[in-house]
Amino acid sequence: QQHRRLISRQRFINDFSQCLYEFVVQLLPTAEEMAVKEDVRKLLERLIRTIEPNSRLLSFGSSANGFSLKNSDMDLCCLIDSEERLNASDLVTMVGDLLERETKFHVKPLPHARIPIVKLTLDPSPALPFGIACDIGFENRLALENTRLLMCYASIDPARVRTMVLFLKVWSKRRKINSPYKGTLSSYGYVLLVIYFLVHVKNPPVLPNLQQMPPLRPISEEETHLNGYNIWFFDDIELLRQRWKSSNTETVAELLIDFFRYYSRDFAYNTSVASIRAGLLKKETKGWFSEDFGTGRERNRLCIEDPFETDFNVARCVTKDGLYTIRGEFMRALRILQARPDRAILALAQLCE
Ligand code: GTP
Ligand code: MG
Repeated sequence: QQHRRLISRQRFINDFSQCLYEFVVQLLPTAEEMAVKEDVRKLLERLIRTIEPNSRLLSFGSSANGFSLKNSDMDLCCLIDSEERLNASDLVTMVGDLLERETKFHVKPLPHARIPIVKLTLDPSPALPFGIACDIGFENRLALENTRLLMCYASIDPARVRTMVLFLKVWSKRRKINSPYKGTLSSYGYVLLVIYFLVHVKNPPVLPNLQQMPPLRPISEEETHLNGYNIWFFDDIELLRQRWKSSNTETVAELLIDFFRYYSRDFAYNTSVASIRAGLLKKETKGWFSEDFGTGRERNRLCIEDPFETDFNVARCVTKDGLYTIRGEFMRALRILQARPDRAILALAQLCE
């Protein structure tokens, strides 16, 4: 009896892994969509150069880190290679005016945001049935670096890492727990939770800690620091692929189930901080407390340390209710996957209902 149960569980795990791969593949952006987006980037770069001739417009976020889905928005960062340049707020206003005049985009400049950006949207058309949404920021070099870090993590074990991340992104959107504006977590936050889990929770680990590996040659403080933050990490992926082989052989289904288990009940939300740089940290040692006594606003219910901006909690927008909902969703997912479903495809559909 028990033996039979074990075999049927193993069969479910294998089927569910297969389903996850197939599900995720059909959600990837098409080559055509990527080409259109690259054309848009080039067009915007050309226009911005009429204001700042020494500028470059670079992709970051999902379009550059290997975690993009169909119709995901474009995150662009404008770098200006000259000593004298306007500040970000003035640039946002000027670029906003320019794009309003010269393009068909709906333009919304946000010059006074924490990170000033220009928001652009393009209405759906037959060639672009979902339109385009795009944010342009300025000099946000840390975001370019964290994009590169995530990209490196994705390329160490693309089959398992990318599948888990893409699935969780879709799942969190379908379950409506992916909007920082409404008190839940950003995509970036979910990606960090996955990497934290694969580096620090799984034993043996699925991924190495790229920020703690010894560099191949001595490097100076200047090379490793940006705005006072240490941004160094081991980024020689070719070498890493030759030298680093995880002894963790779990399937993507097993990892995902364990991910849901860990964040349903094992992670100590009240006291802990998930840090991919340093492992499990205490809120106390970081001085992160759930309530901000100045404003009475909740800030640190869920704590995820940014890999470089270590004084920044990526999950600061998650409210008490938001966290309750997110944990409830982790529990629901675990329940579905443990309820001995006999068809993997149905379990997957139910998960994303
Ligand atoms: P989708 O847009 O949902 O496809 O996901 P995404 O991977 O683009 O993630 P998201 O839009 O949440 O974030 C885009 C990029 O912005 C991330 O890769 C980070 O580089 C940066 N970013 C987003 N949120 C934060 C944050 O709270 N702190 C910092 N430092 N960077 C952030
Ligand atoms: Mg994005």
